[in-house]
Amino acid sequence: MRTVVIGATGHIGTYLVPRLVQAGHEVVALSRGRREPYRPDGAWSFVRKETIDREAEERAGSFGGRVLALRPDVVIDLICFHEESARHLVEALRGDVQHFLHCGTLWVHGHTEVAPTTESQPRHPFGEYGVRKAAIEAYLLDEARRRGFPATLLHPGHIVGPGWTPVNPQGNWDPAVFSRLAAGEPVELPDLGLATLHHVHADDVAQAFQRAIDHRAAAVGESFHVASPAAITMRGYADAAAGWFGKEANLRYLPWAEWRRDVDDVLAEATWSHIAHSPCASIAKAQQYLSYAPRFSSLEGIRESVAWLIEQGQVQAPRLTA
Ligand SMILES: NC(=O)c1ccc[n+]([C@@H]2O[C@H](COP(=O)([O-])OP(=O)(O)OC[C@H]3O[C@@H](n4cnc5c(N)ncnc54)[C@H](OP(=O)(O)O)[C@@H]3O)[C@@H](O)[C@H]2O)c1
Repeated sequence: MRTVVIGATGHIGTYLVPRLVQAGHEVVALSRGRREPYRPDGAWSFVRKETIDREAEERAGSFGGRVLALRPDVVIDLICFHEESARHLVEALRGDVQHFLHCGTLWVHGHTEVAPTTESQPRHPFGEYGVRKAAIEAYLLDEARRRGFPATLLHPGHIVGPGWTPVNPQGNWDPAVFSRLAAGEPVELPDLGLATLHHVHADDVAQAFQRAIDHRAAAVGESFHVASPAAITMRGYADAAAGWFGKEANLRYLPWAEWRRDVDDVLAEATWSHIAHSPCASIAKAQQYLSYAPRFSSLEGIRESVAWLIEQGQVQAPRLTA
């Protein structure tokens, strides 16, 4: 089976491409060739790499044709952020692919209404990213259910694992929060620290894509949450992270307006977005339909990211074993 992965060398592709190779797929990896996967893996020597700039090709109207020319059985689109991009690809591939998998996000739901959130709950996305991803979802599901286009959508939580900075207990990407927890220094959390975060290890995202391909009949025309078995509160996360260093978290709780006063705008905006969404996703559908079985809890996945941050000198703390 020839599988084309669009955006193949990033967080997800680092784990997904080797998995597909090991499962016997003939993989074609598309990217601009600006970066290497986060982890070396011998499987990449069996991968055909194609250098292609999606945005430039879309402007020229040639992206879909270039993907089609690779004669894929399966297309995995990891980097689609606009409905027009999805439309362009669907129009080019219609009738010529067995399965089309799109990487979405839990942000399609907007704020949590009922926890854990199931895929069937109504969407109330907010913010440009979530609104656009929800529009892509609506379009692809309509194409699948009305016109038989073989689309599946997978919606990951906050992706973690070695190679990048995890969303921290304050709901932003400041690695210094982990240094402070490791040193037993005070860490301020907004409100009561009870907003939720829902992480997922990149390899579990890769597993979900692989299993969706394996369970094509159950996957086509459906969306699936791809997250760890359970969301965590900011407070619970901070407590656990301090515990990795033999410390108790020294937490202070501040009303939002007070908390954000001393935090730079970019970090505060990230925190606000995470609090406002407070994702808590059910993974029961993926477990049932796809046999998705995440290997990592949220904290286990985050711990791998933090171990990597320590190795990189971005978090000042004793080394963690992976
Ligand atoms: N990060 C999260 O926590 C999170 C959470 C939920 C959902 N998601 C979803 O995950 C997806 C992103 O996956 P990821 O985290 O694996 O991405 P990533 O780490 O940012 O990697 C992006 C990949 O796409 C390639 N790329 C970027 N721009 C390109 C272009 N114009 N043309 C061709 N290739 C291009 C990159 O390689 P080059 O730079 O070499 O081209 C790389 O291979 C998105 O759909 C996002 O909505 C992410």
